[in-house]
Formats: sequence, structure tokens, C-alpha cells
Amino acid sequence: MKTTNEIRRDFLEFFRAKGHEVVPSSPLVPGNDPTLLFTNAGMVQFKDVFLGAEKRSYKRAVSSQRCVRAGGKHNDLDQVGYTARHHTFFEMLGNFSFGDYFKRDAIAYAWELLTGVWGLPAERLLVTVYHTDDEAYGIWKDVIGVPAERIVRIGDNKGAPYASDNFWQMADTGPCGPCSEIFYDHGAHIPGGPPGSPDEDGDRFIEIWNLVFMQFDRQPDGTLVPLPAPCVDTGMGLERIAAVLQHVHSNYEIDLFQALIRAAAELAGTQDLDNKSLRVIADHIRACSFLIVDGVLPSNEGRGYVLRRIIRRAVRHVWKLGALSADGAFWKMVAPLVAQMGEAYPELRAKQAMVEQALRAEEAAFAQTLDAGMQRLEGYLQKGQGSLDGEALFQLHDTYGCPPDLIVDILREKHAALADGAMAQYEALMEQQRERARAASKFAGANALPAEWVVRLAPTEFLGYQALSADDCRVVALVKDGRPVEQLDAGEEGVVILHHTPFYAESGGQVGDTGVLEAQGVRFEVADTQKFSAVFHGHVGRVVSGTIRLGDSLAAHVDGDRRAAIVLNHSATHLLHAALRRVLGEHVQQKGSLVAPDRLRFDFSHFQAVSPAQLAEIEALVNAQIRRNSEAEVHHMGMQEALDFGAMALFGEKYGERVRVLRMGEFSTELCGGTHVSRTGDIGLFKIVSESGVAAGVRRIEAVTGQGALDYIAEQERRLDQVAALLGGSGADVVDKLRQLFERQKKLERELESLKARAAAGTTADLAATAADIDGVKVVAARLEGLDPKALREAVDQLKHKLGDTVVLLAAASGGKAALVAGVNGAALGKVKAGELLSHVAGQIGGKGGGRPDMAQGGGEDGPALVKALEGVRDWVARRLQ
Ligand code: ALA
Repeated sequence: MKTTNEIRRDFLEFFRAKGHEVVPSSPLVPGNDPTLLFTNAGMVQFKDVFLGAEKRSYKRAVSSQRCVRAGGKHNDLDQVGYTARHHTFFEMLGNFSFGDYFKRDAIAYAWELLTGVWGLPAERLLVTVYHTDDEAYGIWKDVIGVPAERIVRIGDNKGAPYASDNFWQMADTGPCGPCSEIFYDHGAHIPGGPPGSPDEDGDRFIEIWNLVFMQFDRQPDGTLVPLPAPCVDTGMGLERIAAVLQHVHSNYEIDLFQALIRAAAELAGTQDLDNKSLRVIADHIRACSFLIVDGVLPSNEGRGYVLRRIIRRAVRHVWKLGALSADGAFWKMVAPLVAQMGEAYPELRAKQAMVEQALRAEEAAFAQTLDAGMQRLEGYLQKGQGSLDGEALFQLHDTYGCPPDLIVDILREKHAALADGAMAQYEALMEQQRERARAASKFAGANALPAEWVVRLAPTEFLGYQALSADDCRVVALVKDGRPVEQLDAGEEGVVILHHTPFYAESGGQVGDTGVLEAQGVRFEVADTQKFSAVFHGHVGRVVSGTIRLGDSLAAHVDGDRRAAIVLNHSATHLLHAALRRVLGEHVQQKGSLVAPDRLRFDFSHFQAVSPAQLAEIEALVNAQIRRNSEAEVHHMGMQEALDFGAMALFGEKYGERVRVLRMGEFSTELCGGTHVSRTGDIGLFKIVSESGVAAGVRRIEAVTGQGALDYIAEQERRLDQVAALLGGSGADVVDKLRQLFERQKKLERELESLKARAAAGTTADLAATAADIDGVKVVAARLEGLDPKALREAVDQLKHKLGDTVVLLAAASGGKAALVAGVNGAALGKVKAGELLSHVAGQIGGKGGGRPDMAQGGGEDGPALVKALEGVRDWVARRLQ
């Protein structure tokens, strides 16, 4: 029996032998494609090749692509674990033709691999074609020889034109076309009908391979524009075909999943390998680990939020199995996953420790929010008198991540229940929230040019690596308010696209250039340069004089000083990246950067604050590289060669087939399209300005270079001089001066304390002397000033101690108010209660208070009434003592 790993190898080898380039899986975060949340099919990394906007050296490719379908257009999360073949993460085997072979070969190859190489019985296979696709129908029937009763035509069965199981599209826009699907019949003992029949959703006939005949680029308004050349895109779920070849029915029974399920069972200490929670865990550990490998970390929005939901769903099932551990449990599944998939995906093995750490942290955070949620639950239950309504259920889910099924379990334990209709109300609130999320997740494709232009125009040639000015820049497109125009007149704002330009368009964190475009009598001020449809440099700005027309030839001049400053910061960013990895570890990954003229900002994954000592080390490393004055060499090479060369590639960035590699000494080698210094020494000086946290697990460093660094230091010096001047010294002895100042302050504070204590002791002595004696009980009632409540209580205590049998009432006046403290001690205790005395006095001054029989406090208004009330204390006590 073939293992999953062998099946993957078979597939790649089969197509390699048929002239296909074996292309590695791209990351799960699609590079430069804002229309897509995750890579959800093998063709995603080839999207621009289908559209004709990108050329490669090969016309046939084969890959095993890691995919996630959770969130976005293809979302299977809620089914996972409960069906035989839904997954959040799966591998898609695919072969591709870019304007090379078409339907006939695609179909013949698929048939040869399935029936010839893998020996599947032809009579077990059934195929579908798009209802109008007579060509595909004919090939299946006449060339391959599939009997007509096993070829099914599928129409627009989803209610709209081209909304069909047999018309595939990547997303709401982009490449699409009719497709032909191959189904495997798992046998009559399993319920379900063939595709197109009413019970097609049963499990008997399972789609194993989808052959898409890419022909169109779908526009936002739904129209289909033909691609430059017809292409082929196929996709076969590795897990499904493994189930077929391993003679099992469910994907979860294949070797790879069984190994993960056994590992999860061991972790949870259960023997029941059929438990659905084990499948959920086995599925989710794959999605979670690979998402983290590809640079996604749990968060509250976008991709990070989807990851967070998957992790929490998995953790919940771990807990459900009773695998509770203070140290977390789900992360322990990473090692078994690496054992299964580390060979096919070396990046997984390389990042094992980082993945474990991220999962562990998230599980701990989830446990904490859940605790908070449980406390909230108590509050809701009290309010609802033992039952919980839908609003509360929603809040607990939304704010604390406590899912309703978990809450229902907990309610059962507490002998409480859901209010009538709570579930329906909860569902309604969830739906509203999903609606909001959908609206928010429409990843806008800003800066997109109409598809006809993308196909017609050649990508902008960038001259700005060598030059800051260029002549004969031909105007190939003009855009105003998002629409193509023929000309831009004086005073108008718009975008100018030139066939070549020295202006760098913002990308890889480096900001766009500014400057001017000009010709006789014409001047356009460029405020920014942005990429349009990934390959065109759009000069954004305003016509100051004259008119610019399509076809005009302009001279372009970049603002050179600004660009020079940007260049220093960009090269310094690479050195910083390399230094961070050396000092903090290989887990450091770039999460974003901004390279501007006045500063650089670098965000990276790291789990705690970078210490001052580490920052100093990083800064010193970068400056040492600057002093080495190494040449910044640029090399062009193939992607694989670049990776072998040790170049750092960034996740989420899209690289063409030929890449540009920037190398500075032995220290830094990175893929980069940006502009750089010629030697590291040009940077002059590198100075870190700040380090902070921007999100869970992401830190940010801001720094300055060159003149900016000198200005920064000059500013620091100026401030130090100001401080020194205030201290009456110079920069050199400012530390000593400051230390002396602090010591003096401490000494003064100590003196003040002891003076206060002495003054308080004096006060009590004075007060004791004024005590009246009533039947052997000493009575003191006095108004004092300048005592805080604590000192007032102490004074009362001291008097009680000193006078023995005593009744004391002291008032501390301050700002129109009076704080009152009453105390009773010794023989008087039987007859006088401090609380009553206090109420008696407070009542007369518009205040209140109370306390124990021996000590009470309160307050009221200061004024004549207080004086009178204090005078009355003696008589009041005398009456009580009688
Ligand atoms: N791109 C096609 C699919 O995902 C092959 O089914």
C-alpha cells in the first residue's frame, strides 16, 4: 500500500516526466493578492501567469500546494471533524499548462495516471463536464472511451449564469473557466447517488480530481474577459486520493491522519480512536502549524482571527477529551505533525519551536479569557434569575470566546438553563455579526487597472536602480478618479503611467519616490509613486502647467536628496533584520516595515520585549557592519538558487521566477526589489530610537541613519545640556549631580517624617493635658488642623493608650470639611460606644459615620456647629456615665 508521502512523490514524478517544472508549494498567505484570504488552490501562485501579466521560463508546471479553506470564499471550518473529507488544511496536487496543452492532453494525462500508474479500475470512475462543453465530452467519450452513461453534463445548478459545480473560479474576480471532474465510486454499500442526481451529496461518489480549462478573467461586474491564451489548472486533494489508493473510505483513515489521531489519543489518554474530537485535533494542528510557519499569528482580525478561531476550536476539543494540563496540550501535537510532514515541508521542521511556542501562548491566553467568561456567566445568571438569554450567550461567545455548546454544558452542571428562544436570538446576533465581518473582509483591490490594460500594456521598466532622471518616458496610460482618461489638464490630479521610469513605486516597505515629470511647457509634480496591478508604476500627483496626453514623451526627475535618505534606511533595515536574527534567534521574521526618508520602522515576530542590553548589541552589530564598508552586491537568480544561496525570503511577498538578491558582506542576504546603498559605509551611523510591542508576539523597532542619526544624537545632547544646566553642572557630571539631588531629597523626606511624628506626639501630649475627668474617665474632644486621617487615628490611639479609662473625639479640619475619629478605652467601654458618640457629633455637623464600640470614624462640615458639638461632648459623656 502506498503511503501519502509516496503518492505525493508519484504525482510530481509523473508530470515531471511529461515535461512539467516541479514548483514548490507557495506559502498560505498569498503574495500581493488582496482578493484572497488564504491560498486555497494550487493555481493561486500562478494567477498572474494565467492573466498574462507574468511570464515564466516554463509553460508546464506541477506542484503539491498547501491550502487552507477556512474563512473567505471556500470555507469548510464548521464541517471539519464531522464529515469524511472536509479539512481546514489540505494539500492540492495539480498540473498546469500556461497556453501550452489544453483539454485533450489534460484529460489524457489524468486518465493515464489514475488507471495506468495507480491502476484504478476504469469502471469505478465517472466524469462530469460543463453542460455546453461538447469538446470535453467528446474527448472523454471518443478518445478515452468512457461509456456515455458515465459522463454527466452539469449545468448552472447554482442559480446564476456560470454558477455551476463545473465552472470553477478562484474568487469573485480572477481566472476561471469550465471544468471536468473525475469521481470515484466507493461502492454500492455506501449511500449516495452520482453527480447531478438528487442524492449526489451522499458519500458514494467522491470527486477526486478537478480539471479546469481556464479561459476567462472574471471582472468585478461579472463579465468574462478571455485570457490571452487558454490554460489548464487541475486540482486533486492528496488526502482524498490517498483514501482511494489505501482502500479506505474516510480521509481520516489514511496513514497520515491515523498517525496524528493516535498521537492525539495518547495525549488525551483515550482508547477510543473513533472519537470525533481526535479528528478535529488532527485536522486543526495541520492548519494552525502551517499558518504559523507562513507568518500568521493569532489576532483579532483578518487572517490572524481565522487562525485564532481554529486554535480555539481545537483546544476546546482537547479539553473536551479531558486532556487538561497547566502547561497546555494542543501544542504537543506539533512534534507528531513534524514527524509526518517535515520531510515534504522542511520549513515546518525548521520552525517547530516557534510554532509550539505560539500555540502554547494562545492556549494559555484562551484559558484565561475563558476564566473571565465564566465569571461573567455568574453575573448573567444572577440577572436572569438562573437562566441565560441569547444576548448573554452571544456576549460570552463574542467577548470571551466561550462557545455556546461549552456554555450549555456548564449550565447543565450548574442546574441552570437557557431562556426560551435564547438559541434563536443567539443565532440572529451571530448572523448579524457574520454580515459585518463579510462586509469588513472585502479585501479591496485598490490600485487595480482594468484587465484589458493589464494584458495589453507591458510592465513598467524601472530605471531607478542606476539613474534618478530619464528622458523619453512615454505616457502609456492616464488615470483620473479611478478611470482611464486621454489627457490630464493643468490643475488636475491624476496618475501617469510611463513605459519606463526612474521613480520607485512603493513596495517592500520602501515608500514611493517624489519629483517631477516635465516637457516643454508641461510640469507634473509627483507626490507619490504607487504600484498599479502589481507591475505598473503610477506617478500620483498634479499637473501644474500644460496638458499631458497619451503618447507624450516626458523627462522624469526623482527628488534625489529624499531618495538618498531612503536608500540609507532601506539598507540599514536589512542589516537590522540580520542582526535581530543573530541576537534574538532564527524565529525572528519580518512582519512589516516602513522605509521612509526620515526613519525606518521594522516589525518582527518575537515573544517578549527586547532588553536594553540586546538592543545595544543589535545596534553595535549593525554599526560594525557599516564600518566594514562591504559592497552591497546585487545578483539576479532563480528562486531556488536564491534560497540555496541563503537568501531570506519574506512571507506574503510575491517573488517572480527570477529574483533579485541583495547581499551585504557575509552578514545579510535578502530577496529585495528596493533601492540600496553601494557600500554599507554610506549609511554612516545607525541609531535605534525606540522598541515597543504592536500586537501579541510582534515587536517594533524604529531607527534612524546617516544625517538623521546625527541629528538625533545632537538633539539628545542638547537635552542633556539643558538638564545639566538646570542642575548647575556640565554634561559630564550630570549623573553625579542628579544622584546627589536624589540623596538630598531622600534625606529631607526622612527629616520631614520625623518632624511630623514629633509634632503629632506633641499634639497628643497637649491634648492629654486638656482632658476633663468625669468619674475617673478622661474625656477629650478637640478640633485640630493639618492632620491626615491616618495621623488622626494614630493620635486617638495614642490618647487611649496614654489616658487609660478614656473617651476621645478628635476632629481634623481641612478645606471646610472635618474628619472625625472617636475612641473609647478601659472602664468607659461598658457605658459609652464610640460609634454612638460619633453619630451624635456628626449628626450636628451635617455628616455621618460609625464603627466599633472602641473606635469609629466619619466626617462632616467644619464650622461653628463643630465647635459647639465638641463643647457638648463632655455633657453627653457625663449623661452616659451616670
Ligand atoms: N483550481 C481548481 C480547484 O481548486 C483545480 O478545484
